Amino acid sequence: MLFKGIGHFFLDLRIFIWDAWLTLLNVVLPRLPSRARGIDSEDGSLWPEYVPPKEGDSRCSCPALNALANHGILPHDGKNVKFTEITDKVHETFNFAVTFATYVSRNGADTLGKDYNKDTCNLSDLDKHNGIEHDASLLRQDAYFSKSQGQPHIPYIEELLALASSTDSNDKKVLTVADLSKFSSKRRADSRRENPQFQLDDTHKIFGSANSSTLLAIFGGKVDDLEIFLKEERIPERWESTARSRKGLTFIAFNPTTFKVEHGIDEKPYEKEEGKKGEKA
Ligand code: HEM
Repeated sequence: MLFKGIGHFFLDLRIFIWDAWLTLLNVVLPRLPSRARGIDSEDGSLWPEYVPPKEGDSRCSCPALNALANHGILPHDGKNVKFTEITDKVHETFNFAVTFATYVSRNGADTLGKDYNKDTCNLSDLDKHNGIEHDASLLRQDAYFSKSQGQPHIPYIEELLALASSTDSNDKKVLTVADLSKFSSKRRADSRRENPQFQLDDTHKIFGSANSSTLLAIFGGKVDDLEIFLKEERIPERWESTARSRKGLTFIAFNPTTFKVEHGIDEKPYEKEEGKKGEKA
């Protein structure tokens, strides 16, 4: 156990040094050209065909991994997926830096007690409660209220997208850091009040804010794209990641957004709303 701990420390250190190097390269290298990361399909569109999950397919609480499976970029049944394959496809599709994708995917393997380099998982395995999955998510009901975390909870998604308070240069609605903090505040206060088994430690708070920050870093907060991505877990046609740095989105570049979202969370205004404790959906 101790050796494993020391091993992980040096592995993390190696990833963080590598991440700093990629961040530096991103400053000097030209940005990623259009279509550099697309996985061209036979008909010339940027992404392979979207096929919604069939009965028996494995899906999880992460819209990004589900979308990869729905497009066949990861195995469509979501089963026996190699952790290293998750890293590669997350990098290629969303332009996460290899360091960032490796870290998150390895964290997934660790929470399941699996070997990142050799093992596989079914996507639904990643829903292990308080592994990466946690209470008060923005897109899913708490595990206490829901049999499966594999499907989006549409009312939450609509509530989130309706909060979009900004617009882009084309006058299209865009989510901001403040919007994400606001909805996270409400979700945390509601869950704390209504879920008798509510639990959210500091690590899972940061996981929550990091996950939601990807909606800004990878999707630019664009409501039109998020509507498709979050509700159908589909990659919009001709969509490309808004993270355009040549070596991908590094931890160092991403973390400030996560901390801003987390810093803006304040449950107080939502504490007094009525709710029935423990009523399952
Ligand atoms: C690299 C491998 C990845 C793994 C193992 C992973 C795993 C997870 C898990 C287990 C959750 C559920 C957390 C919760 O309870 O809310 C989650 C949520 C989420 N993930 Fe991922 N994820 C990965 C990559 C990505 C990528 C690349 C993106 C964005 C492009 C992304 C975006 C999200 C979002 C938006 C949520 C929902 C947050 C919420 O409901 O509050 N993830 N992820």
